[in-house]
Amino acid sequence: MADSQLTLNELAAKITELSASLTRQLAEKNIPAPTLAADSPVKYADMTAEMFVTRQSLTDALNDMWYLSQGPSESIYNYVHNAIPDASALNVLNHFDFWSAVPLDGSASYEEIAKRTSLPQDVVYRILQHAVTLRLFAETEPGKPTSRIQHTSRSAALAKQTGLRALVSSVLDVSSAPMMLLNQALDRYSRGKSELTQEMSETAFALFHSGGTFSGKHRNSWEFLENDGEGERRGWRQKRFVEFMTYVKEIFHLEGIVLDALDWKAAGNAKLVDVGGSAGADAFMLARNFPDLTIVVQDMPKVKPVFEADVPEELKSRVSFVEHDLLQPQPVQADIFMLKLILHDYPEPEAARILRALVPALRPGNRVVLIEYIGKVADDGDGAAKGKDESKNMEGKEGAPPQALPRSIQQMGTATDLRMMALFNAKERPAESYRDIFRAADERFEVVSLKANPITFFAVIEAVWRG
Ligand SMILES: C[S@@+](CC[C@H](N)C(=O)[O-])C[C@H]1O[C@@H](n2cnc3c(N)ncnc32)[C@H](O)[C@@H]1O
Repeated sequence: MADSQLTLNELAAKITELSASLTRQLAEKNIPAPTLAADSPVKYADMTAEMFVTRQSLTDALNDMWYLSQGPSESIYNYVHNAIPDASALNVLNHFDFWSAVPLDGSASYEEIAKRTSLPQDVVYRILQHAVTLRLFAETEPGKPTSRIQHTSRSAALAKQTGLRALVSSVLDVSSAPMMLLNQALDRYSRGKSELTQEMSETAFALFHSGGTFSGKHRNSWEFLENDGEGERRGWRQKRFVEFMTYVKEIFHLEGIVLDALDWKAAGNAKLVDVGGSAGADAFMLARNFPDLTIVVQDMPKVKPVFEADVPEELKSRVSFVEHDLLQPQPVQADIFMLKLILHDYPEPEAARILRALVPALRPGNRVVLIEYIGKVADDGDGAAKGKDESKNMEGKEGAPPQALPRSIQQMGTATDLRMMALFNAKERPAESYRDIFRAADERFEVVSLKANPITFFAVIEAVWRG
């Protein structure tokens, strides 16, 4: 049977067969097999050519198993989601020599590692939360606030071998960021030509080190989406982002979450402002389901043409678009303000500022509804108690440690968390922390409901303005 037709069970059988063969070959040569624990050999010593081929065939089958078990779309989605945070976490661990901050035969607290690496403890915690999903270090008591960090075989291999550390530094640190500009370099120097440019000054590396294609022009990724491109092309990234948001809605089944976020029917002929509402997909869906709602979608200027192209004729009288910078005072009065997938892109003071910007438009009894992705199950190392509460919320039952989740599920949150750190100096927050953000924004917000769902990974937080 062709490899491409193998089922999960057939692949599993192949994996079992190949691992049995590798184990047998190792035993015949008395080669100790590595484990995942810190005292493991750092590699398969003295591999024969036959063992090498067996091991690589096993690796192929495991990769196929990963693709097959994820399915075609999610194998891409999950790769895109994790690949850069994975590489970035390893690069940070190596740069700050986390390897020697943890004893090989013992453990270290987050605080001790923070001292050794001269990094804020919260950063140490977040990097390590992702690292442990990659079996780079492990928690002594997974998920518990008292947990310390110990080595695994993979982190220990780095602690023990200068050469491996040098490899991470020389390959990953030197080439990763430039390599991500390969598309830009090819676009600029080789598109439409019959051969790759031979100019050393026209590589992705040279482009990156000349300041890259975008350097200095954009303060954050939103400005980049809005302004990249010249003339007619300007705004093309914004259009892509709108398509991406629509796809996110599909894969997370967000329609149901938005429909259930409030009792929209009871809201009657309310006016809703969807702040940062993209090109209106949520607004269209709500307007269709609740004919009494009037909705204003607010977003950046280059989103407007996408909205105008998409707005269905029959909804035009009830759904409109207003360009508005969500950091500026809210110009539209409404009964309900919805912010979906907005605040997690901002550090806490900025997130509070966004909520505070609503105040000029608010009247007593107006509602503000946040819908947020809650990928992160546990809380910060230094916010231990909150992390515990959260595990109760997210698991729906007391005492279920968050780390009992498969690492691949934890990664969904930890990878986003590192992306948030890299892009915005923001973080994936536990649902409870949105209470603090409302409080920091203005004491007159009263959070009246907070629902976090571990299955959908989304939380809905509703506040009422008591001004
Ligand atoms: C993650 S998307 C969420 C979109 C939409 N709420 C949804 O759930 O599909 C964030 C949105 O915020 C918008 N945005 C970012 N910064 C903004 C700003 N300063 N003013 C207005 N909109 C902004 C982006 O254009 C984008 O549409």
